[in-house]
Amino acid sequence: MWEQVQETVSYINGKIDFTPEYGVILGSGLGSFTEEMKVEYTLPYNEIPNFPVSTVLGHKGALVFGTIGEKKVVAMQGRFHYYEGYSMTEVTFPVRVMKFLGIKKLVVSNASGGVNPNYKVGSIVIIKDHINMTPEHPLRGKNDERFGPRFVNMSEPYSRKMIAKAKEIALDLNIEVFDGIYYGLQGPTFETLAEYRMVKILGADCVGMSTVPEVIVARHMDVETFGISVITDMGNEESIDTISHDEVLEAAKQAEPMVRSLIRELILKY
Ligand code: HPA
Repeated sequence: MWEQVQETVSYINGKIDFTPEYGVILGSGLGSFTEEMKVEYTLPYNEIPNFPVSTVLGHKGALVFGTIGEKKVVAMQGRFHYYEGYSMTEVTFPVRVMKFLGIKKLVVSNASGGVNPNYKVGSIVIIKDHINMTPEHPLRGKNDERFGPRFVNMSEPYSRKMIAKAKEIALDLNIEVFDGIYYGLQGPTFETLAEYRMVKILGADCVGMSTVPEVIVARHMDVETFGISVITDMGNEESIDTISHDEVLEAAKQAEPMVRSLIRELILKY
């Protein structure tokens, strides 16, 4: 995998002259974040060697390079999910590539189902921790020390400093944010009512099908990471009947301007 990552990085560096400091992974319905950027280059995934190609509606597939103020950013417009059939190595491959393009910090966004009764559809949650219940660990297999250590300390999967800065920014911008624990499952089914209850009992606030593998791999390589989630549906008895991908995309769209501003300001100020 080391060679594949280096090959992809060499290809990209041959195409563009740009060293990003920040990586951003844009989740369901949040792809318009690139409008906050002064875009310099766009590389569609299907032109990048060794990159998987996204298969889900609402997820575009391109690496977008540009600036926010003075900050250099590479954004993944569209991500890869385990439920699409990719291995965890494939799901997290772009994170490895971004690291070797130069990123020091990663911002990950997603849509998730809320189980914390204080949340409602459209709530914005700063992820403070996660519970990994995905079926394959992205670091399973022989460890390559050039990426990071065999046993990764996970005491701070989400940067406490970035969380504090984001909360400060949210206050300034008058955007209501929660913090919460994200429960990572493989999907692609939404949870049953019993499963939403389990997620809640096990100590999480929201549940989704992404983010956890990418964050683990970022932390393997000592990339400082920030996660943000939009609650697009509530996993409870009153709401469960209508949960659908359309509802998820619609709710993510509603929250998109606020999430965009928050991430923009975080990148500018941190
Ligand atoms: N469950 C899992 N993933 C999700 C959900 C959900 O309720 N909403 C958006 N992504």
